[in-house]
Amino acid sequence: MPFYITTPIYYVNARPHLGHAYTTIVADVARRFHSMRQTEVFFLTGTDEHGDKVVRAAHKENMTPRVYVDAISRLFRDLWPELNVQPDRFIRTTDADHMAVVTQVLQKIYDAGDIYFSEYEGLYCFGCERFYGERELVNGKCPDHETEPELIREANYFFRMSRYQGWLIEHIQNHPDFIRPERYRNEVLAFLREPLGDLCISRPKTRLNWGITLPFDPNYVTYVWFDALLNYVSGLGYPDGERFRTFWPEAQHIVAKDILKPHGIYWPTMLKAAGIPVYQHLNVHGYWNVEQSKMSKSLGNVVEPLQLKTTYGLDAFRYFLIREMTFGLDSSFSESAMVQRINADLANDLGNLFSRVVSMTHKYFDGIAPQADPEVGRQYSLGLGADAQRTIAAYERAMMAFELQRAVAAVWEFIGQMNKAIDVSAPWELAKKKTTRPQLEAVICGLLKGLRLIAGLIYPIMPETAARMQKHLGLDPDAPFYFLEDLKKWKDIPAGTPLPKTVMLFPRIETAAPPAAPAADSAQPAPAPEIKPEITLDDLRRIDLRVATVLNAEPVPKAKKLLKLEIDLGERRTIVAGIAEHYTPEALIGRQVIIVANLRPAKLMGVLSQGMLLAAGQNAGPVLIMPDQPVPPGTALR
Ligand code: ME8
Repeated sequence: MPFYITTPIYYVNARPHLGHAYTTIVADVARRFHSMRQTEVFFLTGTDEHGDKVVRAAHKENMTPRVYVDAISRLFRDLWPELNVQPDRFIRTTDADHMAVVTQVLQKIYDAGDIYFSEYEGLYCFGCERFYGERELVNGKCPDHETEPELIREANYFFRMSRYQGWLIEHIQNHPDFIRPERYRNEVLAFLREPLGDLCISRPKTRLNWGITLPFDPNYVTYVWFDALLNYVSGLGYPDGERFRTFWPEAQHIVAKDILKPHGIYWPTMLKAAGIPVYQHLNVHGYWNVEQSKMSKSLGNVVEPLQLKTTYGLDAFRYFLIREMTFGLDSSFSESAMVQRINADLANDLGNLFSRVVSMTHKYFDGIAPQADPEVGRQYSLGLGADAQRTIAAYERAMMAFELQRAVAAVWEFIGQMNKAIDVSAPWELAKKKTTRPQLEAVICGLLKGLRLIAGLIYPIMPETAARMQKHLGLDPDAPFYFLEDLKKWKDIPAGTPLPKTVMLFPRIETAAPPAAPAADSAQPAPAPEIKPEITLDDLRRIDLRVATVLNAEPVPKAKKLLKLEIDLGERRTIVAGIAEHYTPEALIGRQVIIVANLRPAKLMGVLSQGMLLAAGQNAGPVLIMPDQPVPPGTALR
C-alpha cells in the first residue's frame, strides 16, 4: 500500500529551529521506514507564505513580501538536505499550481452553497490571524500570544463549517485512530461538544492583499489557513494528477499540538465540503521546550539544528530527537540530556557491541565471516533468532502506530540481548580450545547476523550509521539492506566475507566530572554509623528511588571493583557499581535492585553511570538491597 506523509508547511516569519527540525525528521523517519516495507512513498513539506504575519515580518526587515518569502523559504529548503531529510516535493503556497488549486476548491465549495457573505464583528488576534470566541480567551487574552485581541467589524466570506459538525464527530468516533495519540482525539471531541461556528475564510484587500484572490470576489484574499491546508492536495496534483490518485487515499499528516484545531476540524470539514475523501491519520506530537519554556526569539532560547549537527554529528542528533521525545508528549531539550543519550546508547550500547563483535571476528577468524555448522548453530543460537523476530515485530508495530521512541527502544532491547549472548557464551573461553571451535563459529555467526539486523532497523533514524555498519560488515552499503522482508529472514553474513577493521561508530563525548558522588562509592563500607542531619519529607521526595531489573552485567576492564550493569527501569540505563569483588555478573542478571534514578550521571573508568545502586555498606562488603518479590521495573519507592 502506498504511503503519503506530510509536515506542516512552515511560516516564513522565522528561521527554522529545533521544533521544525523534529517534525520534519519524524516525517523522514516515517518515509524511510515505509521504504523498508517496499511501498511507494511520497513525502511533502514546504512553506506557508501568505497572510499578514508574513507581511509584517517582511516590513520589519524592510523587504517586500516577495523578496522576503523567497529568502526565508530558501533557509528551510536548504536545511533539509543538511539533516539528511529527503522530501519528494518542497511546496510553497506562492507556487502557481498550488494557487490554482486553492481557487478551484473555493469555487467548488462556493458553487455548492457552503460559502456565504456576511457582516461580522469579533475579537481578532493578528498573531494568530483569526477571530477568537470569548470562551477561548484566557483572561481576555489570546492564549498563544498573550495579547488582547482587537475588536474588528468586517464583511467577509464564511465557510459553513457548522454543517459538518455531526459528520465529523461520527467520523472520529468510527475511526478511533483518525487523530492519534488518543489524548488529541479526545481534545478534538471535547471541542466538538460545543456548537461549531462557521469559519471566516476571507480578508478584505483593504487590510491585506498578500494572498490568493477569491475567485468570486476580487476585493478579498483567502484566509491563510484555508489556503495553506490545501497544500496537502495541491502538492499531489489534485484533482487529476496520477500522484493524487495513488497517494491521497493513504494520506497521513504530522503536526504538533499547536495546530491541532485547523488540522483536526477545519481541514476534514473542508475536505468533506469539497467532496475529497478525508486523510487517514493525523499524528500529533508535543512541544520541545527549553528550560521549561516555549522556544521563542524573545526569550533567546531558540535551538539551532545545524549547530547541534555540527557539535554532535547528524545521526546522533536525529537519534536523540526520536528517542527522547515520547511522541505526543512535551519534552524538554537540554544538551546534557543529549550527551547522556549519546554516551550511553550510542557510544556504549551500540558502538561497543559493534566493535566487540567485529574485533572478535578479526581476532578469532582473521576478519573473515565464519561458516557455522547448522546443527551447532541451532544449539548455540543463544535465542537470538527468536529475539530478532520479536524485535522486528515490536519495531514494526510501533513504527506503524507512530510510537517512534518505542521502536527505538525495541532495537536497544535487542542490543542488550546481544550483549548478554556474548557474556553467556563467553567466546574468549570457546577460543581457548580447538574442540569448541564449532561453537565459537556458531556464536560469531549469530552475533554478525544480529549486527546486520540492527543496521537495517536503525536505517530510518540513522541512515549514515546504518550504511557504515553495513560497509564494516563487508556488505554493499549501496544495495538496499533494510527491507523488512529480508531482515525477517535473519540471514547470515555470507561465509568468507572479509570484514574491514572495526571502527568506532560514536566517539564518547567527554564531560566535566560532576560533583555528585559516583555510583561506585555506594558500595564502599560506611565509615562510621553516624546518623546524618535531619531532612524534611520534601528533601526525601527529591530522591527518586526505583526498582530496576538487571538485564546484563559485566566487568569494567581494568577496574577490579567495578561492574557495568544494564538495567531496565521502565527505560534502559547503564550504571556502574563498585561490587565486582562481592557479586559475579551471573549472580545479578535477572535480579531486581533499587536505584537512585535521579542522581546526576558520572563517568567511571570511561563508562557513564546513570544512577546509583543501593547497598548496605558493611565491613565485609556491600550487600545489595532487593525487593522480596518481583515488581514491575521502574516502580517508585514510597
Ligand atoms: O503553524 N516543538 O507554521 P509554524 C515541536 N504555517 N514542534 C514545533 C515547535 C516546538 N517547540 N515549534 C514549531 C504553522 N514546531 C502553519 C502550518 S500547515 C497547513 C500550516 C513545528 O511555522 C510543529 O510541527 O508555526 C508545529 O506544528 C509547526 O512547527 C508550526 O510551524
